[in-house]
Amino acid sequence: MTDNGTTSPARGTTAGWPAAWELLLPARMPVRGRGRALQTALREAVRSGRLAAGTALPSSRELAADLGVSRGVVTGAYEQLVAEGYLTGRQGAGTWVAQGAPAAAGAATTLFSEDDRGGPLDLRPGLPDLSLFPRAAWSAAHRRVVARLPHRAFGYPDPRGLPVLRAALAELLSRRRGVAADPDLLMVTSGVAQAHTLLGLVLHDRGERAVAIEDPGSPEHRGLLAATGLTAVPVPVDGEGLDVAALAAARVRAAIVTPSHQFPAGVAYSARRRAELVAWARETDALVVEDDYDGDFRYDRAPVGALQGLEPGQVAYTGSVSKSLAPGLRLGWLVAPAEILAAAAVRKRTMDLGNPVTEQAVLAEFVAGGHYDRQLRRCQRLYRQRRDALVAAFAAHLPGARVEGIAAGLHAIVTLPERYGPPARLLAAAAAAGLRLRPLSDYRFAASDRAPKDAGAVSLVVGYAHLTPEALTAAVRLLAAAARDAA
Ligand SMILES: Cc1ncc(COP(=O)(O)O)c(C=O)c1O
Repeated sequence: MTDNGTTSPARGTTAGWPAAWELLLPARMPVRGRGRALQTALREAVRSGRLAAGTALPSSRELAADLGVSRGVVTGAYEQLVAEGYLTGRQGAGTWVAQGAPAAAGAATTLFSEDDRGGPLDLRPGLPDLSLFPRAAWSAAHRRVVARLPHRAFGYPDPRGLPVLRAALAELLSRRRGVAADPDLLMVTSGVAQAHTLLGLVLHDRGERAVAIEDPGSPEHRGLLAATGLTAVPVPVDGEGLDVAALAAARVRAAIVTPSHQFPAGVAYSARRRAELVAWARETDALVVEDDYDGDFRYDRAPVGALQGLEPGQVAYTGSVSKSLAPGLRLGWLVAPAEILAAAAVRKRTMDLGNPVTEQAVLAEFVAGGHYDRQLRRCQRLYRQRRDALVAAFAAHLPGARVEGIAAGLHAIVTLPERYGPPARLLAAAAAAGLRLRPLSDYRFAASDRAPKDAGAVSLVVGYAHLTPEALTAAVRLLAAAARDAA
């Protein structure tokens, strides 16, 4: 078993199957031609890579019972696919996907833009564990929603989002994050990224030309601002959050911040800094854009509420399902003061006329039915274990390494003392060992701060949520070996 509760697709194991079968096979077998339908579904699942080589199939008896077909239909389909080279099996020993089974040309590689992202040696931040996506619950909600939606729901949606989803999200955000969320002041977006793009366009329309961002900070923030014609002005972050005196000196009227878990430095804004930031926004009538990208996950205490709750009139709150469910869903939200929200809705209309209706309705059902809370609890438990495993692995294999930042989110900052080699050499040795690592310096905006150093300690931004404790330990061991080479 992996620590996410699923069975790794190893030969001879079938436990953990039912959820996956629901997706691989037709929801309802046709009355006629059942054997052929099953063969087609299995063949496609193997060709597309959804069923990996070595994956064990359920026994013909189990699958027949699950699908409500006779056992002969399943054995016939298995035999046919064994003959075609997709499956392999022996009487009494089971059936599994053959090594080197025919794959659809390019299927597995063209579906993804970065196919090595999230692999066992990839410690870069940004991804949740995609294998935790609740496929069965999501697809069940999808089936219910598609069956239930009235015809008119498939027309052009309200660009601000489905009312039922806005109501569900407003309840969720006020309960979990302390957001002052009125469904009328909330809109559905394609992730935080689109929320920021919309806000950037609105600010530009209002005559702003520059927006403060955190330094170190997210390159996404700068890139999205640039796409809307705005210049990003980096403002330093210290142990308490954004330096508000430096922000005031920058003479901007908007700032993007990550107060719950600063990205990437990992600090939580202090109460004092939050109050100063809100006071600055009030005094200058500025807009604070809060990016609550991973605010649900806090492992040492209850999460601190959103900054927006302190001053809803000056703070626009943005978040998404990218860290809690999956970034591929492209579903997020924006809660903003009335005028800003109205202007953003006009922009959203001209951009894409609104998010897809079915996905919105599924998320609404998912949230209202308690599945979203369940998913967060499950991820919280596993990610905490993974963070603990990461801390233990560094203590065991790279003594003196300091894990910094609050116990939260999907990444940690780990600082390795100078004795583990000059930063540039250590990073090169790690890369040569196949590790994918991002130093904190990559997230600094001044060119001089970004250059690899010849001496001193090195801080790494380590994403851990997507890897099991075993994989994390193995990766840290590899890093320790690389550090010995570099020292
Ligand atoms: C700090 C931060 N905020 C927001 C985003 C984008 O999030 P979304 O997928 O919701 O657009 C990213 C992307 O990884 C990020 O690093």
